[in-house]
Amino acid sequence: MTAPRYAAVKAALIQHPRHWLITGVAGFIGSNLLETLLRLDQQVTGLDNFETGHRHNLEDVRAQVGPARWGRFTLIDGDIRRLDDCRRACQGADYVLHQAALGSVPRSIEDPIATNRANIDGFLNMLTAARDAAVKRFVYAASSSTYGDHPGLPKVEDQIGSPLSPYAVTKYVNELYADVFTRTYGFRTIGLRYFNIFGRRQDPAGAYAAVIPKWFSALINGQPVYINGDGETSRDFCYIDNCVQANLLAATAEDAAATNRVYNVAFGERTTLNELFALVREQVAARRPDAGAAEPVYRDFRAGDVRHSLADISRAANLLGYQPNFSAREGLREAGSWYLEPLS
Ligand SMILES: NC(=O)c1ccc[n+]([C@@H]2O[C@H](COP(=O)([O-])OP(=O)(O)OC[C@H]3O[C@@H](n4cnc5c(N)ncnc54)[C@H](O)[C@@H]3O)[C@@H](O)[C@H]2O)c1
Repeated sequence: MTAPRYAAVKAALIQHPRHWLITGVAGFIGSNLLETLLRLDQQVTGLDNFETGHRHNLEDVRAQVGPARWGRFTLIDGDIRRLDDCRRACQGADYVLHQAALGSVPRSIEDPIATNRANIDGFLNMLTAARDAAVKRFVYAASSSTYGDHPGLPKVEDQIGSPLSPYAVTKYVNELYADVFTRTYGFRTIGLRYFNIFGRRQDPAGAYAAVIPKWFSALINGQPVYINGDGETSRDFCYIDNCVQANLLAATAEDAAATNRVYNVAFGERTTLNELFALVREQVAARRPDAGAAEPVYRDFRAGDVRHSLADISRAANLLGYQPNFSAREGLREAGSWYLEPLS
């Protein structure tokens, strides 16, 4: 079932196309936002320095949307750590969807300065450039890591604990800056606290890859799957199309009560790593029967990880009209077909 407000928003955008800026456009979430917006005939500027994003993600979008829609996209090969690049990118934008950042808790533990530069200096540059360009709305990728050591479940936006990693600090500082820009300059922002987003084009490679693409890749290639801890750690895994929906709803929300807030973006269900492993293995085994016998290798818990995560999504449902269409299981089927496509 399609969320009624989302359907209305998409119809209105097709009728009255807007100019969007997506930072981090060559990354996983950015390239999916780009694909959806181009399919809706929007004009899009993208900014990326390709530090963790890939040109092949953009090539994939180009192939999906066709030449006419691709013609509405302008790429700026630039860096959010440079204010001038941010200013250039913001020119003429109605809405900003700010995704560019260095993700990953372990990366931030190894190199907190690099994470700080991209995620705090870069964020402040983008916020400043967007304010000066008088964009209508600045929607940014916040993170469930902001809940830190708060024990409550499900996570409710106003109850957070202390951050457990440098990455979590940067994402919380983003929220503080956004809030202060609202109070000080009347600038309109919305923060989306993403909970373990997954789906097509999420990078399976590299030391900091997320668990779902990493496990698909390992099982497809007959390599071991590692689980940090006993596998009973749980997450609210959220399929990418739900995340795209939340971004479009947040950018276009007119109600003053809906803006200048943060929202959980998740499905609202918990899956343990052991359950996740079984689901991924089932998908891969359908194409690679030998993967059916694979068992995970358990190793130590990882520093900075929270034990359980589950979102209360009622604020986004009530104020934005957010209705996620894909459960973790349904999203895994979609993601699985994408990761397994090269095998068919
Ligand atoms: N994927 C998730 O589950 C998740 C969860 C919580 C928050 N987030 C946040 O969502 C956003 C997008 O994450 P993603 O999973 O798509 O990651 P990603 O690494 O695929 O995308 C990030 C993009 O930002 C670009 N980038 C990084 N530093 C830059 C800089 N200095 N200047 C310009 N571009 C830069 C990268 O090249 C990449 O294309 C990030 O802000 C991340 O912190 C993601």
